[in-house]
Amino acid sequence: YPSTHCHLNDVKFFARHLKKRRHNTHKGSYGNVAVVGGAPGMGGAITLAARAALLTGAGRVYAYHIDVPPAYDSTQPELMLRRAQDFAIEGAVIVAGPGLGALDDSRAALAKSVHSSGPLLLDADALNLLSQDSALQATVAERSAPTVMTPHPLEAARLLGITSDAVQRNRPGAARDLAARLNAIVVLKGSGTVLAKPDGHTVVNTTGNPALATAGTGDVLAGLCGSLLAQGWPAWEAALSAVWLHGMAADVLVTEGLGPIGVTASELIPAIRTALNRM
Ligand code: APR
Ligand code: MG
Repeated sequence: YPSTHCHLNDVKFFARHLKKRRHNTHKGSYGNVAVVGGAPGMGGAITLAARAALLTGAGRVYAYHIDVPPAYDSTQPELMLRRAQDFAIEGAVIVAGPGLGALDDSRAALAKSVHSSGPLLLDADALNLLSQDSALQATVAERSAPTVMTPHPLEAARLLGITSDAVQRNRPGAARDLAARLNAIVVLKGSGTVLAKPDGHTVVNTTGNPALATAGTGDVLAGLCGSLLAQGWPAWEAALSAVWLHGMAADVLVTEGLGPIGVTASELIPAIRTALNRM
């Protein structure tokens, strides 16, 4: 790892939560992830999140599309592509939002996701729709399984009913407010991602660089965090490690001369896999 971006104590901290792949295990041992999104014109977002979940170790990954799904993902045929109307999977960690859109089907899929009994990650349009629905916000706050939210500053601003400038002026405060209001772990993205717990505890991540300022990297983070949750990581550790690894992988790509200019979200995924395996 590039020494300027990575402290040995960080690696030790995160490696503690990594589970060894034991010999006598099978795909059922590594959890299921169901990504919900992919409205017309936004199939890329759900695909990036699903591929990120698969390449970071989830046992099975489903992609529930709002639009009619392709027969299979030719780059990653291991993914199971389904229609969001048929979305009924129990026992999966749900990642709702990548390219979810704002159609009636999008709202229905989000409501199903929020009412599910397992760990839930809300990103992108799931957060935009949630900001328009105070009843659903109350349901989120009452969930007994963990909820993780990954807003960028504008998504956080919509949820808080303030401007994104106001969010940026006090990022820890905004993350803490949201976490308390929605009883969720909040990952406020951007340079210096802030993580907050409902009890007010906050952490600022130190990895990552402007190579990440490109379309789709947020979708990759959502899939990665869902994958760690599915593999049994506690929610706070999953969120913290996902953010740390995502940034670390981007730092490695820069060190290798592949960035900061022109790194793609697709290239970030195998870089995260490498970072995980090196731990
Ligand atoms: N330094 C470090 N990290 C950065 C930087 C930076 N300068 N810029 C961006 N990042 C990281 C963020 O912390 C986050 O993890 O890159 C990721 C960007 O995520 P998003 O803002 O969600 O961007 P993206 O994935 O392209 O979202 C695509 O979905 O969320 C909606 O409205 C959004 O239309 C957009 C779409
Ligand atoms: Mg995004």
